[in-house]
Amino acid sequence: MSKKIKVGIVGCGGIGGVHLEAYKKISDQIEFVAACDLNAERAAQRKEQYGFARTYTDFEEMFAKEELDAVSVCTWNNGHAPISIAALKAGVNVLCEKPMAMNSKEAEAMIEAEKKSGKLLMIGFVRRFGENTKFSKQLVDNGKLGEIYYVKTGCIRRVGNPGGWFSDKKRSGGGPLIDLGVHMIDLARYLMGKPKVVAAMGATYDKVGIRSNVKGIVQWKSMDYSDYNDVEDLAAGFVRFDNGATLIVENSWTQHIKEDKLYLELFGSKAGLQMEPELEIYSEENDYLTNVKPVINENASGFGNNFDREIAHFVDCVARGTQCLNPSEDGLELMKILDAIYKSAETGREVQL
Ligand SMILES: NC(=O)c1ccc[n+]([C@@H]2O[C@H](COP(=O)([O-])OP(=O)(O)OC[C@H]3O[C@@H](n4cnc5c(N)ncnc54)[C@H](O)[C@@H]3O)[C@@H](O)[C@H]2O)c1
Repeated sequence: MSKKIKVGIVGCGGIGGVHLEAYKKISDQIEFVAACDLNAERAAQRKEQYGFARTYTDFEEMFAKEELDAVSVCTWNNGHAPISIAALKAGVNVLCEKPMAMNSKEAEAMIEAEKKSGKLLMIGFVRRFGENTKFSKQLVDNGKLGEIYYVKTGCIRRVGNPGGWFSDKKRSGGGPLIDLGVHMIDLARYLMGKPKVVAAMGATYDKVGIRSNVKGIVQWKSMDYSDYNDVEDLAAGFVRFDNGATLIVENSWTQHIKEDKLYLELFGSKAGLQMEPELEIYSEENDYLTNVKPVINENASGFGNNFDREIAHFVDCVARGTQCLNPSEDGLELMKILDAIYKSAETGREVQL
């Protein structure tokens, strides 16, 4: 058997736990070596749960002392660039959670460190590992949609600002656009064949607030919750790509609507594909309109399974040099789109790239 991949993690919070569960499922291929968190107790808890050899509160110290093959970076967004760069400089392959960084400048520095190191910097675009995404991508690649010229996507919560670091701009870089929007814009771009952004318009609003007062519902809150909030409630964007296609995106953590909304619709010259809320394809057959609904076992497209596949793929890339599905340049392109929407919202003008 080939040698086990020595795994570390920085950021032992919510999503860190999801990564660790996925690593545990392939424990024949990996070894839990070091866990790091600013919160020593949280790192110690992960050591207890997963059998890490050592824990740290300082990632620099961890990379200096340990000989790791791979690390998951699962911290607040402001840690993604410094930690990934330190890991790459220490010769460690990195799986960095989304968003890749706070902005495209940081993302460029990460890619430079990746190139110098010769190691891998993979970005946690976990939804690319969904069965519904796989199905949709194959359909697009087989030309079934024709030319995709327009995409609409959104993820809107009625009440769902997680608070804590998420709503603190210096640690998150922004609100629902950099949090939820990252997933939706990446999926759209991935399915569209990864066109490059050439211009964007955007608007952001902070009219509703964090709404920690709301009773009678279970609100998902970040681990170290506080109701400090200096990010947008709502972001809307219109993006132009180099192939002439356009994308409309809206994301909100709180809006006065009846229920949460998640949608992703691609419009092609031969067929339309709705990936969310339910996978369906709209076209024509024998001069009749058709609605096609693929049968996909819900469990197979669930959240946890996607992370299992993402982590297994990362380990596969590190151990066997498999080509990475989520390369760093896709993370950078995404950061350029977010930067342009935020900048346009600030200036009130279209941003050209
Ligand atoms: N892929 C997804 O679907 C998905 C879902 C949720 C979160 N995320 C991303 O994962 C990251 C973490 O989110 P979360 O929900 O787990 O947050 P969290 O607050 O639950 O956990 C973050 C942890 O990182 C630690 N931390 C922060 N900065 C650190 C540093 N410099 N060094 C060591 N530890 C540090 C904190 O102490 C905390 O324990 C974010 O970037 C978020 O966008 C991705």
